[in-house]
Parts: sequence; structure tokens; C-alpha cells
Amino acid sequence: MGLDNLNDYYDPARKRANLDEVRHALTQNGSNEAFTFIQGDIRNRQTVEEIFLTHEIEGIVHLAAMAGVRVSIENPHLYCDVNINGTLHLLDAAVGRIGGRRSSPPIFVFASTSSVYGNAQVIPFTENDPCNRPLAPYAASKKAGELLGYSYHHSYGLPFTAVRFFTVYGPRGRPDMMAYKVLDNIFFGHDVPLYNSGNMHRDWTFVSDIVQGVVNAVDRPFGYEVVNLGRGEPVSLAEFVRVIEECVGQKANVVSAPMPEADVVSTCADISRARELLDYDPQVSVREGVSRFWSWYQKHVLG
Ligand SMILES: NC(=O)c1ccc[n+]([C@@H]2O[C@H](COP(=O)([O-])OP(=O)(O)OC[C@H]3O[C@@H](n4cnc5c(N)ncnc54)[C@H](O)[C@@H]3O)[C@@H](O)[C@H]2O)c1
Repeated sequence: MGLDNLNDYYDPARKRANLDEVRHALTQNGSNEAFTFIQGDIRNRQTVEEIFLTHEIEGIVHLAAMAGVRVSIENPHLYCDVNINGTLHLLDAAVGRIGGRRSSPPIFVFASTSSVYGNAQVIPFTENDPCNRPLAPYAASKKAGELLGYSYHHSYGLPFTAVRFFTVYGPRGRPDMMAYKVLDNIFFGHDVPLYNSGNMHRDWTFVSDIVQGVVNAVDRPFGYEVVNLGRGEPVSLAEFVRVIEECVGQKANVVSAPMPEADVVSTCADISRARELLDYDPQVSVREGVSRFWSWYQKHVLG
């Protein structure tokens, strides 16, 4: 089952279309499993309680969040409310503090982020790095989620794995993410801001690789773990723009722009822990990923 409040951070029609795709895919696969979707808010303790009282839950993949790094600076209270208090409600339900007692707690997989590393100077980022200088409330709220997970693991034995995603892109991606905006701007002939002269490296990770890592994390409860899910091969923004230009067959109108304050110069995941613990093995190169993203965009966005 899925829970989402379908907020209007971006067009909710897009979220509904994604849900329809899930339902359609399950029917196509001949799956007998019905997909239940509940439109509800994780900040509402009663909603969460009710769900746990009425459903048998064996695992929680907690992706629901306010996820915009820059926007979190303007609206820190909202980000903390959803990403911290909302997470607390789910943790409470997982360990039976609300929503009924359970014999053993379900595995809890928490979507964290490379943003917790802040402007770390040592590349690649490893899970043992300190992560105590988040550049925006979003990153701080995600780090708080990881820490609460540890407390609940310690106090209640909750199996908790935080997976730190690195710049996810691909079909159904958030329209405010850089990959999406660059593609959109190139296609429509709008300006493409080239931050820091394009000298800004991201460990772009295709969504299907992330999904594989998450699924494997659900299947393997460890106790408490934090695991990077990236590709481990950063590509500069300038190069990323070039790859999109080639795919779309149009030149970008690049304009120089300074680095946004809450952004880091480089991200790069050390994925050795993910390889070891989760058999994680990212398959999709940036070139291949952009090409698949472009195919999806033509079909589902341009129609
Ligand atoms: N996209 C990335 O590159 C990236 C990187 C690092 C971490 N993450 C994390 O991955 C997860 C998914 O991110 P995404 O990029 O797909 O963003 P997204 O905005 O598409 O997905 C988040 C979903 O959470 C829902 N939501 C927000 N507040 C809610 C609430 N109070 N109650 C119920 N649902 C709520 C939203 O409606 C949305 O559908 C998030 O936890 C995000 O922090 C994403």
C-alpha cells in the first residue's frame, strides 16, 4: 500500500498519473495483489495510527518528505514538521507506540540524502563522515530522521536502514530537480543556468538503480545501518548538459550563474558499503539514463 498527501509542491495530477502507472503495471503483470492507496498526511498522528490498526505492515519504505533543498531555507518549519514529526509518527507506529502492539517491529527503510554531507571536502563521501554541517534545513531534517531511527533502534530494537540517495534522476522525477529543469529548458529554448561555470559535480544516479538498492534494503534487516546509494562516478553539470543536448538534438542557451548558497560543489558516493551489504550494483550510465529519461519525457510530458 502507499500513503501520500498528494500536496501541490508540484502538480498533483502528475502524482496521480504516477499512481495510475503503478496500478496499470500490477494489472499487466497479472499480479493478484491489490494496490491500496491512501491519501493522507504523515503529520496526522491519527491517520498513521488508523493505517497501522487496519493493515498488516511488514515493512516501511519511508519516502514521504518535503524534498526541496533551496525551498527549505524559506520554509524551515514545514520541512521540520513533515520530515521530523511525520517521521516520528511512523517510527511510533513501527514500534507499536501507536496503531496496536506487534510481536516484532517491521523493517524501516528511511530515504535520506547526500545533502547530509554538506560541503564535505573529502571525496568520496563515506557513511562514517561526521555529517554535522548541513547547509539547509532540509538536510538537517533528514539527518534528524537518521538519528531518531537510531534512538528507536536502541530503545525498541527497530531494524532501521537509512539509505542516502545521491541526485536521483529519470522517469517520474521531481520537476524542480536539476536534471528535469535542464531538459525542460533545453527543449523549450529557455536559459539554462550553468552554476559555477558548470564546474559543479553531481553523482547522478538513475532511479532504477536507487529502487534496486531500496528493495534490497527492505529484504535485509540489519539492526541499524546507514548506506549510500549513488553511482560513485560524478559528472560535471557542464558535461551533463552536453549529454542532454546530444539526446534532445538541441543546443542549450547556457547562462553563467553563481553557485546557489545551499548547494555543494561536488557530491560523490563511496558505494562500497552498499555493494557489500545490499549487493547494490548500479547499472545505468549517465548517457543511458539521460536517454531513458528523454524517452519518458517525450511520451509522458510532451504527450
Ligand atoms: N530526488 C532526489 O534526488 C532525492 C535525493 C535524496 C533524497 N531524496 C528523498 O527521496 C524521497 C522521495 O523524493 P522525491 O524526489 O521522489 O520527491 P517527491 O516530492 O516526488 O516525493 C515525496 C512525496 O512525499 C509526499 N509528501 C510530502 N509531504 C507529505 C506528508 N506530510 N504526508 C504524506 N506525504 C507527503 C509528496 O506528496 C510526494 O509525493 C524523499 O524522502 C527525498 O527526501 C530524493
